[in-house]
Amino acid sequence: MTDTFYHQSFVVSFDYPVVFTRDLFDPANRAFLDAATRLQESRRHRAVVFIDSGVAQHHSGLPRRIETYFSAHAGALELAAPPCVVPGGEAVKKDLKRIEEITRQFLELRLCRHSLVVAVGGGAVLDAIGFATALFHRGLRLVRVPTTVLAQNDVGVGVKNAMNFGDGKNLIGTFSPPFAVLNDFGFLRTLSDRDWIGGISEAFKVAIIRDAEFFGELCRDAKNLRARDADAMERLIRQCAKLHLEHIRTSGDPFEYGRARPLDFGHWSAHKLESMSGYRIGHGHAVAIGIALDSCYAARKGWITEKEFASICQGLADSGFSLWDPLLERRAKGGKLEILDGLKSFQEHLGGELYITFPKGIGSKFEVQEVGADLVAQSIGQLKSAWS
Ligand SMILES: NC(=O)c1ccc[n+]([C@@H]2O[C@H](COP(=O)([O-])OP(=O)(O)OC[C@H]3O[C@@H](n4cnc5c(N)ncnc54)[C@H](O)[C@@H]3O)[C@@H](O)[C@H]2O)c1
Ligand SMILES: [Zn+2]
Repeated sequence: MTDTFYHQSFVVSFDYPVVFTRDLFDPANRAFLDAATRLQESRRHRAVVFIDSGVAQHHSGLPRRIETYFSAHAGALELAAPPCVVPGGEAVKKDLKRIEEITRQFLELRLCRHSLVVAVGGGAVLDAIGFATALFHRGLRLVRVPTTVLAQNDVGVGVKNAMNFGDGKNLIGTFSPPFAVLNDFGFLRTLSDRDWIGGISEAFKVAIIRDAEFFGELCRDAKNLRARDADAMERLIRQCAKLHLEHIRTSGDPFEYGRARPLDFGHWSAHKLESMSGYRIGHGHAVAIGIALDSCYAARKGWITEKEFASICQGLADSGFSLWDPLLERRAKGGKLEILDGLKSFQEHLGGELYITFPKGIGSKFEVQEVGADLVAQSIGQLKSAWS
C-alpha cells in the first residue's frame, strides 16, 4: 500500500456587529434585540446574563432593567435564569473553579449552541465569561456588553479570551469571535478615575503604531480626557475600537498563527509588571509604562525621534498615567532585571522566536528579533530619572 496524502483546506468567515449606543436596556432600544435575533431564526432566543460585581454595585437597578427588557420582547427573547453577578476585576481570571461553576450552570439550564451568553462588565469579566462560553458545547453565542473604557475600545471588539494560570498572564484561553458587541457609554460614568484613565493607554498604543493623526488628537485631548470629558472619551473609544477592528480584519492573521503580535506593542513588560505587582497595577496602567519603556528604547535606537518620544510620554502623563514603578528595577538573585522575563514569556508564546513590535516614526511599526538587555536597563534608568 502506498501512502495517501490529502491536503485539507477551507475558510471560515466570521462577522459580528459592534454597536455604540446609550440606554442599551431601555425596552425602546432595539440594539440588543436586533443583535440577538440577527440570524433571523423564528424561535425564541434563550439567554443567560452575567454582570460584573463592580457594575452591579453602581447600577443597582440593572438586573431588574434587563428582566424588564426581556419581558418587553418576550416574543423573541427569553431569560433562562435571573441575571447573575460575578466578581469583577483580575481575581476572576485566576478562578478556574468559577469556570467550572458557570459551566455547571450552563448544563443545568440545558443551554445549547444557539443560546446567548451575555457578559456585562470590564475586560476581566469579558475574558472569563468568554472563556467559559467558548468551552461549553465547544462554543455558545457570546454577547459582550463592555463597561470600562478598556473593555469598549479593545477587549470587547477583539476575538480572544483568556484566564491567568500559574504566574502566567493570559496563559490559557481561546480565539473565539463574539456573536455581538454592544457598547453603552452610560456605563462609563461610574468608573473610578483609575479605570476611566486605564483604557487611554490602549488608544495611545494603537495610534503610535497605526495612526499619526489620532496620536495628535490624543495628545491634544489628554488633559480633558483625564478631567473626564465624556465627549473626548467617546471619540477616543470609537476610533480606538475602529483601529482594532481594522487590524483584526485586514492583518491576514486574526488568530495570531504568525510570529508577530502587533497589537501588543508595549505589552511584553506590561504583562510582566501586572503579574509582578500581584495585579496591583491594572492592565491599562501597566501598558502605559510598557509604551513609555519601549518608546524610550526606540528613541535610543533612532527608530523614533527624541521629540516623538517626549510627546508620547507627555501625552500619557497628561492623561493621568504614572510612567514609573519601582518594580521596573527589581532584580532577581543573580542580578538580572526581573522585567526581562517578560521577553522570555513573549518568546515562548510566539513559538521560540522573539518578535517585538516597535514604532518606526509615529503611525507605523516594524518587528525586531532582538531586544538588548543593556539598552532596556538604560531606558529604565532614563524613565526613573524623568518620571519617578
Ligand atoms: N481578550 C483580549 O483581547 C484583551 C485585550 C486587552 C485586555 N484584556 C484584559 O482585560 C482586563 C482589563 O480590563 P479592564 O481594564 O476593563 O479592567 P477590569 O475588568 O479589571 O475592571 C476594572 C474594575 O472596574 C470595575 N467595573 C467595571 N465596569 C464598571 C463600571 N461601569 N462602573 C464601575 N466599576 C466598573 C470592575 O468590577 C473592576 O473592579 C485584563 O485582564 C486584560 O488582560 C483582554
Ligand atoms: Zn492590552
